[in-house]
Amino acid sequence: MTHPDHAALLDLATALAREAGALALEMREGIETLATKSSPTDVVTAADQAVERLLAERIRAARPDDGLLGEEGMSRAGTSGLRWVVDPIDGTVNYLYGIPQWAVSIGIEVDGSAVAGVVFDPSKDELWQAELGQGSTLNGRRLRCSSVDELGQALVATGFGYDARRRAAQARLLPALLPAVRDIRRQGAGALDLCSVAAGRVDAYYEQGLSPWDLSAGALVAREAGARVEGLRGRPASGALVLAAAPGVFDALHDVLAAAGADADPFD
Ligand code: IPD
Ligand code: CA
Ligand code: CA
Repeated sequence: MTHPDHAALLDLATALAREAGALALEMREGIETLATKSSPTDVVTAADQAVERLLAERIRAARPDDGLLGEEGMSRAGTSGLRWVVDPIDGTVNYLYGIPQWAVSIGIEVDGSAVAGVVFDPSKDELWQAELGQGSTLNGRRLRCSSVDELGQALVATGFGYDARRRAAQARLLPALLPAVRDIRRQGAGALDLCSVAAGRVDAYYEQGLSPWDLSAGALVAREAGARVEGLRGRPASGALVLAAAPGVFDALHDVLAAAGADADPFD
């Protein structure tokens, strides 16, 4: 089956990410207070679902034979070999609290590999785009990851999952890591963490337990900016571990994480 060129897919994904981001921003205005616990959370869930529904409808209208994998469950198998991997709002907790660090993430994959990706951060009007083999950009400006080559100088982002056992395992990596790096950051949106690596806003990012929709677009943005994006011991980046780093610090960071037990699955 032939596919449209990646640039055309990127244009479509960009238009959809902008429309989805505008809807999410508009729905955010309805969340005025955190005074009651359940109602703001419900509003966030409603926004997640409304944004994914919008994306699912638009993708189906434009590309009826493509597959869709979305966090909110509006997934469907396709027949074209091309799959859209969508996180309608990445950084939900930031969204809930009004912290402007969340994004719509759209990756387009052929046989499981991303060929185009868009991450749109509507609060800052920042559009991150990547096309396989063509580099990545922020608002049209070409990205390059940092040239740091000493782990002690590296600012490293990470994230923590929602499950308590997962968090306990993630916490066990920190005593080894903290003394070895400049500092760590927990920004709260994995897709934007990957984009931050691409722009040199951090030197590296790692996280265990990510899902394909957190990863698909942002990993391509980081890779196309020259970052290495892998798992442990040469394995591909996956839910087990995503390590995205400037090439000059990748190996050193990998080795600290491996020695600290990043291999261990908390659910074994
Ligand atoms: C989460 C964010 C967070 C990361 C979590 C993800 P969500 O996605 O990307 O930064 O640490 O692992 O689940 O729930 O906000 O879409
Ligand atoms: Ca997410
Ligand atoms: Ca989400």
